[in-house]
Amino acid sequence: MHGTIFLLLKRYVQLQYDHSTWMQLVTNAGLSTDNFSHREVYPDAHLFALVGQAAAMTGLSPEKLQEKFGEYLVPDLMYMYHKLVDPDWRTLEMLEHTEAVMHTRVRQEHTGNKPPVLDVVRVAPNEVLLTYVSPRRMGALAVGIVRGLATYFDEEDRIVLEPLTSENGERVQIRVRRL
Ligand code: HEM
Repeated sequence: MHGTIFLLLKRYVQLQYDHSTWMQLVTNAGLSTDNFSHREVYPDAHLFALVGQAAAMTGLSPEKLQEKFGEYLVPDLMYMYHKLVDPDWRTLEMLEHTEAVMHTRVRQEHTGNKPPVLDVVRVAPNEVLLTYVSPRRMGALAVGIVRGLATYFDEEDRIVLEPLTSENGERVQIRVRRL
């Protein structure tokens, strides 16, 4: 997994909790270093260990934690890839273009990068059906990212999310409507 995701998780835990909580997580997850670089790719198992330990320490479920972290990630991801974002896009348009624009670029940047495949279909003028596919089973992060995008575009009162499957599978479907 992309080092940026590790760096942002580190910052998230440090801000939401504190530095010693983060250090405890790193130790409990059995990692020898927390010196991540955005240029590197790290084993997925390390991220899962950190998220699992964070869930145990905070009492939140791993899914809830991923959702909150997904919401937190959005402004940074948008900042990093802002050159690829059309100023006319809002939440639904962003979702429609993530696969072809953002995730395609992420795959080109490093052969180790394997963002999920997102199949997004506009089924009605104000509705998209998003299908997430990834062996990492991080659909809860996807749910959080959609919420984060709605907040980012100032549409949090208008965007309604309806997961149509469990968030834990390799294939997760989410209906997203704009009121
Ligand atoms: C600005 C838009 C976006 C950018 C720049 C972006 C970028 C990234 C990057 C860099 C990764 C790490 C990939 C890796 O290490 O293999 C990633 C993973 C991920 N992305 Fe995106 N992403 C964006 C939008 C989205 C959206 C809209 C969703 C879903 C609604 C999404 C869902 C995920 C998930 C769940 C992962 C975790 C890895 C996995 O499940 O396989 N992303 N993304």
